[in-house]
Amino acid sequence: MRPSEYIAVKRDGHELTREQITTWIHSYTKGEIADYQMAAWLMAVYLKGMTAKETSALTDAMISSGESLDLSAFGHLTSDKHSTGGVGDKTSLILGPLAAACGIKVAKMSGRGLSHTGGTIDKLEAIEHLKTGLTTTELLKQVEDIGIVICGQTGDLAPADKLLYALRDVTATVDSLPLIAASIMSKKIAAGAHNIVLDVKVGEGAFMKTIDEAISLASMMVAIGSDLGRNVVAYITDMNEPLGRTIGNAVEVQEAVETLKGQGPKDLTDVCIVLATEMVHLAKQIPVEQAHQEVTEALASGRALHLFQQMVQAQEGIWDEQRNGPKMQSAPVEMQVLSRVDGYVDTIHALQLGTIAMELGAGRVRKEDAIDPSVGIVLQKQKGELCKIGEPLATIFARSKEDAKRAAQEIVKAIDISTSMPKLLPHYYAKVS
Ligand code: URA
Repeated sequence: MRPSEYIAVKRDGHELTREQITTWIHSYTKGEIADYQMAAWLMAVYLKGMTAKETSALTDAMISSGESLDLSAFGHLTSDKHSTGGVGDKTSLILGPLAAACGIKVAKMSGRGLSHTGGTIDKLEAIEHLKTGLTTTELLKQVEDIGIVICGQTGDLAPADKLLYALRDVTATVDSLPLIAASIMSKKIAAGAHNIVLDVKVGEGAFMKTIDEAISLASMMVAIGSDLGRNVVAYITDMNEPLGRTIGNAVEVQEAVETLKGQGPKDLTDVCIVLATEMVHLAKQIPVEQAHQEVTEALASGRALHLFQQMVQAQEGIWDEQRNGPKMQSAPVEMQVLSRVDGYVDTIHALQLGTIAMELGAGRVRKEDAIDPSVGIVLQKQKGELCKIGEPLATIFARSKEDAKRAAQEIVKAIDISTSMPKLLPHYYAKVS
């Protein structure tokens, strides 16, 4: 078929075959299809959608456009996790070690943050000297030796996704559920794990704004996984408010370590235990209750913390034995934000807090921006807690007093205070499998 015919099939709402989609995507990756033709096709998909068969074929074509990580040496014991992105989302740093401490092989390739959402690789790089750029051989050796690695992408996984995502970004075609589902799943499946737990965030700080939308995306990704021979389960979790008490890089790593010591905030601890339990349940094929028991024991015994330490040291990061935590830089300026009224902390607006942290230097507006790992925000109060006039609501870590003052003015506007106890939102809403 000529390129215009592929476009016409989707424009008219018809179905392409698996073979046609493979040819179309591979030809584009090789540079044989012009960007304007692919952009027209993406817009047709955006407007007319794709069938489940087409979405699975698109994912498969994006996977076969590049390399895949071969984790077959670990059998079915491999579990990966992917979050659709949120504010204060440091779960990978906690549930990776939790699952690995239960005998699961965790080879996690993570990304960097963009806009108001953080990225696991940026967080890990807050640890002095820690290396996130590993070769495939180094990655496999570390999984073999200690059971866990969290690093940047090794090899050329799903190159078609990289090209398509860049084009979608500038042609208003990002927000299409089949395109998002295929994009996420192509990278996860190419990353090699047999079991995949998806954390689909919903709410004002997330990509998906409604639970229905999040469930539709989750269902598509689960269906793609089962079509392509993987076990995939998705959880719909809340992102109206930041997860835990910290937003930034070093502050989030510190909170992850506290959580692994059993001293983390309840919302963060609960979400990590639920997701890690699922990773263990899927990989070991044991009942959920038994997986939950193994995960809580890995946390309580300190084995998960020890694995986190081993991972940091294997990746050349510095561990401070005295503090029993990783060595990280602290910001030059620390400022408290005090409450101006008495009341209960109500909504802590995730999108606003994420944006304030990004403007402090914890995130990037453009991909090429440098970030400062030491800056960020620590919430002294979470939703439902009482606060009195003059009590600290948050602590800001900044590069300058001016940055801190600007952030303080915005933080006061981003935290609602009520005269009555607010209704607390669930940490997670649904499981899709
Ligand atoms: N994240 C991805 O990896 N791809 C998308 O299309 C959207 C979010």
